[in-house]
Amino acid sequence: MERPAKIPPAKGKIGVLTPGMGAVTTTFFAGVEAVRRGLAKPFGSLTQLGTIRLGKRTENRVPKISKFVPLASLDDLVFGGWDIFPDSAYQAAIKAGVLERSLVHQLKPFLNSIRPMKAVFHKNYVKRLDGPNVKKAKTKWDLALKLKDDMAKFKEKNKCDRLIMVWCASTEVYRKPSEVHKDAASFVRALKENHEDIAPSMIYAYAAITSGVPFANGAPNLTVDIPAMIELAQSNNVPICGKDFKTGQTLMKTIVAPGLKARMLGVDGWFSTNILGNRDGEVLDDPESFKTKEESKLGVLEYILQPQVYPELYGKLYHKVRINYYPPRGDNKEGWDSIDIFGWLGYPMQIKIDFLCRDSILAAPIVLDLVLLLDLAKRARMRGIQEWLSFYFKSPMCAPELYPEHDLFIQLMKLKNTLRWLKGEKLITHLGTEYYD
Ligand SMILES: NC(=O)c1ccc[n+]([C@@H]2O[C@H](COP(=O)([O-])OP(=O)(O)OC[C@H]3O[C@@H](n4cnc5c(N)ncnc54)[C@H](O)[C@@H]3O)[C@@H](O)[C@H]2O)c1
Repeated sequence: MERPAKIPPAKGKIGVLTPGMGAVTTTFFAGVEAVRRGLAKPFGSLTQLGTIRLGKRTENRVPKISKFVPLASLDDLVFGGWDIFPDSAYQAAIKAGVLERSLVHQLKPFLNSIRPMKAVFHKNYVKRLDGPNVKKAKTKWDLALKLKDDMAKFKEKNKCDRLIMVWCASTEVYRKPSEVHKDAASFVRALKENHEDIAPSMIYAYAAITSGVPFANGAPNLTVDIPAMIELAQSNNVPICGKDFKTGQTLMKTIVAPGLKARMLGVDGWFSTNILGNRDGEVLDDPESFKTKEESKLGVLEYILQPQVYPELYGKLYHKVRINYYPPRGDNKEGWDSIDIFGWLGYPMQIKIDFLCRDSILAAPIVLDLVLLLDLAKRARMRGIQEWLSFYFKSPMCAPELYPEHDLFIQLMKLKNTLRWLKGEKLITHLGTEYYD
């Protein structure tokens, strides 16, 4: 891919549209507004707080990322979305119970002004949910047209220059790629024939991509991770990325596992279990939705530890992931990892991690960064899979002939080197021999 000569500045408003207005979305909307009003800080967001080193270490050039590349300002974001429940973002934030009521009350007029549009939904794809705020149409094709119309109207009404869509709705049941996903023509035919392999998330993604709107997938559903969508993203010049926001236990895994591997310490077993009591936990209590999540979580260690390259160290690894719906904890998940490792001469050791995390607090800054970076990518004329955004995902999308990169530190280096490349700066290799010549 050619580097763009000049990236146009981020002028005008961006409409941020989220299918799903639950815990993650409302924590994101409220959080951005709280930051805009100076009530809180955007901790956890690389685009807001991160810096980037440029040139040699002796040059002391370390600007903030937001000053280095032309990112949109938080003041330019306008929010909207779809949900199967008609609750405003205020009511949804209160129900989600992530943020303190006092903060949500302070933001009430803002949050109340965001009302969900009617969703594209079918219970076959999320078994534990049902709601009244749902579009009716004869075919899935008609539903896609209605979504495109929603987007066009939102853009006009809010005087937006550009739109971005981030899937923040529930995890759909497990689906494997099938014939209807193999190319754009088969996909369109299947939309018109109401084929059951076309999940609601794919209808949103189709509507976004064919409207020229970048799309990020925050859940583990296939959605844009099928050849048809990749083809459409290429032909419509749209950047896409996914899947499944990297928060909580998987974030910890991709921090700890590269360290163990770097020191050539073996791993016999990694048992992960967690309890969470939000609506996401309830949906994941259904075995078919859990299967989608499990697939997304299991791949991580396999790719980081490479048992085929290091059979003595990781060939016998037993990896187990459990998620338990436990209402008393709400969004405040507790995740336990019990890791059986071995070192010099095979002597065994154990590591225990008890992470008392807050799921949506970890996810909200990811949504913000994805919005700003996808918008940058679009202005820089990047299209198709954005592998440099793997940093944010549990199950990163990549070209079919590649394996995904899961190591958080390699992902960060890739992200920052992409920003350096976009701006014509030298890539950083960390070789550093020049300091000793
Ligand atoms: N919170 C995290 O740390 C985290 C991490 C990774 C992935 N995720 C994923 O992000 C998604 C959102 O998580 P959450 O905690 O906000 O869940 P949530 O249950 O609070 O919100 C999801 C919302 O989506 C709505 N919805 C379901 N299907 C829909 C459809 N077809 N169209 C429109 N709305 C629909 C539901 O009514 C609900 O309000 C889930 O898929 C979850 O697995 C969350």
